[in-house]
Amino acid sequence: MMSRTNVKHERRGDPACVVVPPARPASTLAQEARAGLLRAPRQLPPKYFYDAYGSALFDRICDQPEYYPTRTESRLLERHARDIVAMVRPRSVIEFGSGMPRKIRYLLDACEATGCAPGYCPFDVCHEVLVNAGRMLTDDYPWLEVLALVGDYGAGLAHLPPVRSPALYIFLGSTIGNFAHADAVAFLREVRGTMCAGDHLLLGADRVKDPQVLHAAYNDAEGLTAEFNVNLLRVLNRELGADFDIEGFRHYACYNAPACQVEMYLIAATAQDVDLTALGQRVHFEEGAHILTEISRKFTRATLEALLAEAGFTVVRHLQDDCAWFSLVLARVH
Ligand code: SAH
Ligand code: TRP
Repeated sequence: MMSRTNVKHERRGDPACVVVPPARPASTLAQEARAGLLRAPRQLPPKYFYDAYGSALFDRICDQPEYYPTRTESRLLERHARDIVAMVRPRSVIEFGSGMPRKIRYLLDACEATGCAPGYCPFDVCHEVLVNAGRMLTDDYPWLEVLALVGDYGAGLAHLPPVRSPALYIFLGSTIGNFAHADAVAFLREVRGTMCAGDHLLLGADRVKDPQVLHAAYNDAEGLTAEFNVNLLRVLNRELGADFDIEGFRHYACYNAPACQVEMYLIAATAQDVDLTALGQRVHFEEGAHILTEISRKFTRATLEALLAEAGFTVVRHLQDDCAWFSLVLARVH
């Protein structure tokens, strides 16, 4: 399917796995914590949510009744996968931020039904999730060749292994909304830069809607989103030898309507001093101090298409559900 240098199988039945080295110097958690925690406005990049526990929590968030994006996007895929596969006839499928294999199944079922057998390259920062996903998919689709790519897609795509064309690049779950506008444009341009004529991009993005629906989606009653958010502090405690008092921070998510984005924060319920051993720093968090941990931008049909145009894509199909809650866009290079 592609170059097999440095391909590793850990156990029989595990997917082949390659580490995608950063294409440009990538900052470490210690550097990002130094830049993001030592002065206001405090913020941390979202990729650190996804350790093994965080990834498992996210998978459970996807099944919460309030979290409509997963099921809405899944229904769109279920309905349109055959058309998409018929248009692209992919020989490889590359998925950024693949997570657990839910939605890819609709595309693989459509491939199976139409006699198309692409190789599948899930690309994720979380190794555990890739191994589990690969095992599940090869059990269910014995014909499927999986090459798992472990790495940070924010560190450049120049070292992606070569793939067979036509390729279908997919980026679902509105993860594109977790990028600030300029970063989203830069990332999509990089994706476009790896694409050949005949390749397509399938992008899933969440839409602007009733703020109450958005509020509920990021404040589920079971508290899984809160637990997911707070887990970031556990990651810092473990990776930076920090001593955040986890109980002392609260999850807070709200829709910033003028900015068209949900913002997720961790807020200090009481003042605390935190040792960040790896940084050789002690940081004071006053009561109410907040750390921005995630933005989740919401698009209109027009802003989403403008984003794709700015990144050099032409929209081939723009699919949406009856309530216009979610978009699935098939695009190709201009
Ligand atoms: N695509 C799935 C999961 C979305 S959650 C869905 O639609 O439900 C976002 C996924 O992207 C997680 O699996 C996370 O581990 C991965 N991820 C986040 N930041 C990343 C980065 N910088 N590089 C690679 N993967 C990343
Ligand atoms: N891409 C998802 C979204 O924006 C990520 C997400 C869902 C998320 N729930 C979350 C990120 C809670 C942080 C916290 O909807």
